[in-house]
Amino acid sequence: MIKKVAILANGGDVAGFNAVIRGIVKTAENSGVEAYGFIDGYNGLLKNEYVKLSTAEDGNAEGILPKGGSIIGSSTNANVFNYKIEKENGEVEYKDLSDICIKNIKDDGFDCIFTLGGDGTQKSARDFSTKGVNVIGVPKTIDNDVACTDITFGYNTAVSVAMEAIDRLHTTGETHHRIMVLEVMGRYAGWIALESAIAGGGDVALIPEIPYDIEKVASKIRNRQSRGKNFSIVIVSEGAKPKGGDMVIQGTRNNGQGVDNTKLGGIGQIVAKQLEDITGLEARNTTLGYMQRGGTPTAYDRVLSTKYGTKAMQLALEGKFGRLTVIKNGKLDDVSLEDVVGQNTKIGAVSGNTTESNIRKVTMDNDLVKTARSVGINLGD
Ligand code: F6P
Repeated sequence: MIKKVAILANGGDVAGFNAVIRGIVKTAENSGVEAYGFIDGYNGLLKNEYVKLSTAEDGNAEGILPKGGSIIGSSTNANVFNYKIEKENGEVEYKDLSDICIKNIKDDGFDCIFTLGGDGTQKSARDFSTKGVNVIGVPKTIDNDVACTDITFGYNTAVSVAMEAIDRLHTTGETHHRIMVLEVMGRYAGWIALESAIAGGGDVALIPEIPYDIEKVASKIRNRQSRGKNFSIVIVSEGAKPKGGDMVIQGTRNNGQGVDNTKLGGIGQIVAKQLEDITGLEARNTTLGYMQRGGTPTAYDRVLSTKYGTKAMQLALEGKFGRLTVIKNGKLDDVSLEDVVGQNTKIGAVSGNTTESNIRKVTMDNDLVKTARSVGINLGD
């Protein structure tokens, strides 16, 4: 019988964090279980900072379904298995502080921890699970690249924001006969670029999975020109790269050791300049950035997040730990965290991840790729 659970939200924020939190808290309350939230992800777990969550009248988890961000914060630099410690003399060292977290969980009597996050967050969740902690993960990221699930919460909202941007770029591009480039997020997976290009009627979508040939992109634009279409919309994933070339790195982030600290960005500007030079048409770049993460979730994300939150709490009530809530072939389900972040290449083949990383990438047999090609969206190849 579980009595007390805690939620932590970790990694870059997405729309839908609060809807998941609400789903867990409501299901917990309906089953007589107390729900708490650690502040700022794994950092809160380490520092033992948490609040009681309540959906009662005037409770802190009341009315949060449409709210962007996370009412309990989130952290992008809290790998507690390899935690950065700055000493007084300025030196930096990295330590495994997971046992402090486990002591906090035991001392305060939490029967289950819910980890809302992407693959990095779920790797730590798997490691806590291996050390005997009752953990249940919920897959989050706008990039939609968590293995073993068809979709992560936050992704649909990001696609909708990108689609609206494409709609707006259409009218200004058409007016001034320009090539309008939109750089969207998606570090190693081009889901946002691909799906928003289809939703917004883009002409080109460049994604990390298909290294592009700029000449091919330019000929698509020239072809449009020859048909009297003096404007084009080009959507570029931040992680897109040319054939034989590399991703554009803007700098480094401070997200802790053992995680990917490259800060991507800048490819949109480069593509715009190259297309301007080749076609002679004026080109402009817009980088959508954090607009894709903030703000209210779409109806789809509210429902998905509620499904995920309630399912996660159900799993806890059933005593099924070490799991991740997923959507598999359109159905709400759960899989083991080991399958999601471990080295199981058999699962990898199914989910589309690679042996080097657990990221779920766009595969060439995906319906979105086929659909994009069918409506004439150039994928740079
Ligand atoms: O993984 C989600 C994401 O939004 C990526 O698309 C982007 O590259 C990254 O996070 C940016 O993270 P940060 O918050 O560290 O700038």
